[in-house]
Amino acid sequence: MRGTRKYQHVIETPDPGKWELAGYEESLPISEKSNPITRELDKSDPSQLVQLLRDCDAEIFQEEDANLIHYHDPEGGLVVLSGCGTSGRLALLLANSFNLLLKGQHRAPRYCYIMSGGDRSIVSAQESPEDDPHVGAQELEKVCEGKKNVVFVGISCGLSAPFIAGQLDLCMRHLDVYLPVLVGCNPVSMARNDPIEGWHSSFRQVAERLQALHESHKGFILNPAVGPEAVSGSSRMKGGSATKILLETLLLVAHKADSNVPVTEKCLLEILRTYERAHKVTYSQSKKIAALMKQTATSLQKGHLYILGWGTLGLVGIMAAVECGPTFQADWRDVRGFVTGGYDSIENKEGDLSSLGPEFPISHEDFVRNVLPSVSETDAVLLIFTLDDELNQIEKLAALVKEKTSNIQCISHATAGQYLPNSLKKTIPSIIGMTWPILFLEYEGTFIQKFQRELSTKWILDTVTSGAYALRGKIFRNFMVDFKITNSKLFHRAASVLQRVTGQSQQRCTEVLLQSIYGEQTLSEQIRNRTIAGHVGAAASQDKVLPVAIVSLLRNCAVQEARSRVDSSASIRAAIESSLNVPGRKRGAEEGSGSEGRSR
Ligand code: F6P
Repeated sequence: MRGTRKYQHVIETPDPGKWELAGYEESLPISEKSNPITRELDKSDPSQLVQLLRDCDAEIFQEEDANLIHYHDPEGGLVVLSGCGTSGRLALLLANSFNLLLKGQHRAPRYCYIMSGGDRSIVSAQESPEDDPHVGAQELEKVCEGKKNVVFVGISCGLSAPFIAGQLDLCMRHLDVYLPVLVGCNPVSMARNDPIEGWHSSFRQVAERLQALHESHKGFILNPAVGPEAVSGSSRMKGGSATKILLETLLLVAHKADSNVPVTEKCLLEILRTYERAHKVTYSQSKKIAALMKQTATSLQKGHLYILGWGTLGLVGIMAAVECGPTFQADWRDVRGFVTGGYDSIENKEGDLSSLGPEFPISHEDFVRNVLPSVSETDAVLLIFTLDDELNQIEKLAALVKEKTSNIQCISHATAGQYLPNSLKKTIPSIIGMTWPILFLEYEGTFIQKFQRELSTKWILDTVTSGAYALRGKIFRNFMVDFKITNSKLFHRAASVLQRVTGQSQQRCTEVLLQSIYGEQTLSEQIRNRTIAGHVGAAASQDKVLPVAIVSLLRNCAVQEARSRVDSSASIRAAIESSLNVPGRKRGAEEGSGSEGRSR
């Protein structure tokens, strides 16, 4: 992703063939493809894992044509950023950053965010609201009531979320009020095209309508090609990072232009290069990141990982923690994020949500009160801060944690010339210390520094959590195989992974997936006739649905037998690997026999 040459309004994949494999993979959007770099992710040790994820993240910076639009801050209007899951959490983070920037200029806040499932989704994975275009549109109408000039930025990395489709559709029906912008990481021709239940269009149809508005500058699509995810489909990783880089760069430049500072292509490049440098600075710590990953994998065997962050780095920690549930079937207690000041500091719309349940208290005080008493040697605690934060407070908290566990590590961000106090170094011997160069960009320097630190932290946490779960056997090749089927996209993803691992037809894979969801070998007509939403409803309460379906298909055995094999295996990966090696088993697609089915 590079801002070079002239401005353009659509960024299509320059060379889509690059990531395509023969057979079934060809039909998949880039965001769901399996990345050739990480094919052996599941067999890698911590150092190799970090290297592979680093190389995958570097694809964000591959050469590409210009990809930024002419944008002007809507005078007296509103900028709404909206997304689901990580994309929604990023919408919150970005809205806060740019309201802060406006505040610094003595101007009123103008940004707001929407996240599917409401504010509870900030700290707790809520995947099903993603499927509802009607609610998406209603939420947008609500925040825009009385506004005459709204820039709407809908983020869906996979160009797939019905919630966002509903909002874009609303905007396009009221172009006098809204300027719709879609952000994602697939070409429009690869946007999700299965019908949205109870609605008139598919996501792709909505995206095509939006594309038709480019010429008249009444709507825009920003869809950089960043290559497939390191863990196929895990759009929280590269998709999330690319969204952050793209929107921060674009909005920074827009604000610059808005303050009558001449904006040249050089400004864009300068900003984009700071992110590229952030990649180098971050992964220069690869050895220590690998050690943290190894420690985390060990802790997750019987214990937990607690991520305690200061300032916006706390929200970045929460983002990484929450996604472990939907991606790796982790329990919400396994990886948890906490932030200084709790809800006050993340400035969410609905305020303090602590009373919603034990999952929701997120301040450091909550950690000390509710969690610390039960922390033991099996648990790991990770502190994330900058040297501008309250170092005394950090040291105190670290000392409290050390009374419970010696597994305490930290990520610290310093500006050149700043040094960690010796006392803190003594309290926390395992430090991933990042030193950032001083930026001589007068206007946006402070913000760029903040953005770099957030992104660097995101990269480390994505790498550490995904790598740790890979080491725990939750990934097969580079497919997530043990995720919760909690929305229609995840249902289709499960069927698609099943096809790729087993090489069986789409029809057969869907049949076995349903057998696994319902725990029945013979599917009744009533079950077969259910909608995908119905299947998702049934799957949501089941665990290991996809691994059981994979083992059942590979071994040609009943789902009950497959379930007991999966349950008695050392790991999900081991269950799949041993089923692949069953004598007499037919070869699968990935092994060269090709595949019959096409999922969408
Ligand atoms: O459905 C779950 C999920 O995949 C999250 O992991 C992700 O952050 C979210 O959906 C949003 O995905 P997208 O940005 O592609 O719409």
